[in-house]
Amino acid sequence: MKSLGIGLIGTGYMGKCHALAWNAVAPTFGDIARPRLVHLGEVNESVARKKAEELGFARASGDWRAVIADPEVDVVSITTPNEFHAEMAIAALEAGKHIWCEKPMATSEADARAMLEAARRSGKVAALGYNYIQNPAIGHLKALLEEGAIGAINHVRLEMDEDFMADGAVPFGWKSDRRSGYGALDDFAVHPLSLLTTLLGPVARVVTDMAKPFAERPLAEGGSRAVETHDIANVLLRLASGVSGILLVNRSAWGRKGRIALQIFGSEGSILYDQERMNELQLYQARGPVAEQGFRTILTGTAHPPYDRFIPAPGHGLGFNDLKVIEARELIRRIGGEPAHLVEFETGIGIERTVHAMARAFETGGWVDVGS
Ligand SMILES: NC(=O)c1ccc[n+]([C@@H]2O[C@H](COP(=O)([O-])OP(=O)(O)OC[C@H]3O[C@@H](n4cnc5c(N)ncnc54)[C@H](O)[C@@H]3O)[C@@H](O)[C@H]2O)c1
Repeated sequence: MKSLGIGLIGTGYMGKCHALAWNAVAPTFGDIARPRLVHLGEVNESVARKKAEELGFARASGDWRAVIADPEVDVVSITTPNEFHAEMAIAALEAGKHIWCEKPMATSEADARAMLEAARRSGKVAALGYNYIQNPAIGHLKALLEEGAIGAINHVRLEMDEDFMADGAVPFGWKSDRRSGYGALDDFAVHPLSLLTTLLGPVARVVTDMAKPFAERPLAEGGSRAVETHDIANVLLRLASGVSGILLVNRSAWGRKGRIALQIFGSEGSILYDQERMNELQLYQARGPVAEQGFRTILTGTAHPPYDRFIPAPGHGLGFNDLKVIEARELIRRIGGEPAHLVEFETGIGIERTVHAMARAFETGGWVDVGS
């Protein structure tokens, strides 16, 4: 397969992560052509030029449409704030580009559906940035579930917590603006939902409570502005499979830095995972002498692919950015027509529907069907 030309729109936290992944994917895996970093778009020319030099892109523009119009660009990474995803993704698909769009898909269900329709019309690959499913530890967790290591699954608990909004002095930014979505639901809940969808299938019904720890946040230019999103959400779930579950998300949880905790309970054991310790699984199997039963730690290593592509020694640990490198490799495989492990728009729309059902459940105060 020929080398892909890459466009990147946005160069913040996730933009840099995508750029690092595009730079690292060929040397890490050794079986694909090195992508060409062609064109980077930012809010203005000077930021774009500075970032293009730092991240290794040949061309820079202060207008994202120039990235999409570039004939040498085959794939566009969209890493801008949520409110821009729909317009940029649809324009890129209509220009005949594959896309790798950060989560959430969009800020409304209608926009997410329009994105899915655009992807179907274009026939191009439309992947979402659900990097956590790429962790070799999660791959092994899935294998354990499939081989029946903990029996029949009956309950799941999901949590995602960070503390970047925990200080009331954090200024009002795009994450407190309703145009970015509901808050912790589409910023955070979508991530554990991507894991849940991959491991145990879709959610059927939900009931939700949400909270705002701060009614207002200071403005950089002085004064304050009312917070329009909810940093905390608590959701009861019922999966389509019948399994019961709970999802708790909080962007204002002091001390939690990157927690995505899964607890999966079965008829013969349990499995625990926490993203803050992303190279470990805890497995409890209710077998053998009772006096010797307990959780045991499985440390990921070369027996958990594709860990071996990064490091030949077990137990040394992958990091967050490595998950994006794996995701980039899956995307390249998918574009080349090979089987790939990705959340594409066809599956991602289910995560969007679930989040919007959660928001409706908060408004109505009762159980809501996710629908299809
Ligand atoms: N997959 C993950 O683990 C993960 C983690 C964090 C954020 N995200 C997602 O990534 C997206 C970006 O979040 P972030 O934290 O990187 O934000 P950020 O604020 O750090 O970066 C956003 C970037 O987009 C640029 N930008 C804004 N408007 C633009 C426009 N019109 N044209 C070109 N560039 C523009 C900004 O200048 C900035 O560089 C969000 O959708 C977020 O949900 C995903």
